[in-house]
Amino acid sequence: MTISARQFGFVRDFLRRKSGIVLQESKSYLVETRLSAVASEGRLETIDQLIERLRSSPSGSSLELKVVDALTTNETSFFRDVHPFMALEKHVIPELMEERAADRTLRIWCAACSTGQEPITIAMILRDAFPQLRQWKVDLVGTDLSSEVLAAAREGKYRQFEVGRGLPAAKLAKHFDRAGTSWKVKPEILSMIDYQPLNLLQRWPAMGTFDIVFLRNVLIYFDLAVKEDIVRRVHRVLAPDGYLFMGAAETMINMQQPFERVTVGRAIAYRPKKA
Ligand SMILES: C[S@@+](CC[C@H](N)C(=O)[O-])C[C@H]1O[C@@H](n2cnc3c(N)ncnc32)[C@H](O)[C@@H]1O
Repeated sequence: MTISARQFGFVRDFLRRKSGIVLQESKSYLVETRLSAVASEGRLETIDQLIERLRSSPSGSSLELKVVDALTTNETSFFRDVHPFMALEKHVIPELMEERAADRTLRIWCAACSTGQEPITIAMILRDAFPQLRQWKVDLVGTDLSSEVLAAAREGKYRQFEVGRGLPAAKLAKHFDRAGTSWKVKPEILSMIDYQPLNLLQRWPAMGTFDIVFLRNVLIYFDLAVKEDIVRRVHRVLAPDGYLFMGAAETMINMQQPFERVTVGRAIAYRPKKA
């Protein structure tokens, strides 16, 4: 199966409408490989047939979801780009625990959490470094647009090469059980995370206010207007003294937005600008 410029154009517009992701022309080989797999799975012989099926299927159909799933990049790892997690442990959580000592509530949102390595990393830090939080109400919410990655996150099972990327041996031994050739995160950690579907491009459900938001390695796929819109909406759900962490390759340069950039340990974070 090969993908023509016309087909690529259709798929690029479709994906942008559904997820905000802007596909680069240079990725056409990748689109071709991934769509061929979806077509074969649906017993379709050509990408044209797949596109025809997609055109006639209702919004939100399982085929639409499959195609979006197939075209999103879900790359993630435990302790990815380690500095935000160090900042969390050494500075952000201790500071917020002082600030929130009266109501003993801490709320963290991992937007675009993929298969769960990011919220699991945070959950392990909370358990290991802050045992006092057991007496607090701690909400750790993980969301993603892809139902496939959320299903994997909810299962909490990781292959050897996944736990081999960034997860310290002591944390693996303490928080995971062997499951055949894979590893399963212990219920104590998994149960700390509330996984929910959420498409950042669409209207968000009422979620309350968060103290910390991780929005990492997803804005990179969107155009400037979409990035700006999402960042402003994050501002609305972040506490005035809260923290936003973005990916190592992401910045707010060129955006009209209400955050100030701060250095926390060796990490960069964003905090709501003071009025
Ligand atoms: C590269 S992963 C990043 C995972 C994790 N945050 C990290 O930094 O390791 C990007 C994730 O964004 C999700 N995603 C893409 N478009 C999205 C959207 N419009 N709304 C919510 N999630 C989206 C993908 O499904 C994917 O799981």
